Amino acid sequence: MEFVRLLLVFLHLLGMGMLVAMFFVQRRAGADAPLNKGWLHGSALQLLTGVALVGLAPLTDKDYDHFKIGLKLLVLVVIAGLAAANVNKPRAASWLAPTMAGLVVLNTAVAVFWV
Ligand code: HEM
Repeated sequence: MEFVRLLLVFLHLLGMGMLVAMFFVQRRAGADAPLNKGWLHGSALQLLTGVALVGLAPLTDKDYDHFKIGLKLLVLVVIAGLAAANVNKPRAASWLAPTMAGLVVLNTAVAVFWV
């Protein structure tokens, strides 16, 4: 089971890296570009791996702080919601990528500093 947890943490960290990378991909695409679908895919990966980690906690002998997890979930729902609401628009608003990237950094800080 420990290997499964490590595999999920591994994918969770790659998902975080993907979301950070999306900020630069979006910048490179230019101001008139639509929102890249990678924001949605990265959010989905974080949600799936995060929920799986919490769901497997009894089997992996982990006791996660429920308030911390709830906050991370809330922040992720905002990121995913922004991505879903804007992905089909012809042009992404200029505040969108910095806001979503800021929320990704916020969730990373919550994950690391909240012990
Ligand atoms: C943008 C969204 C997210 C980011 C950037 C993120 C980032 C991270 C990072 C960097 C860690 C590693 C922390 C460390 O080892 O010290 C982590 C761990 C964790 N995350 Fe997230 N996370 C996100 C969303 C979520 C969500 C939505 C959930 C649950 C619903 C979640 C559940 C967890 C759990 C349970 C761990 C601990 C894994 C372990 O060490 O066993 N995360 N997250």
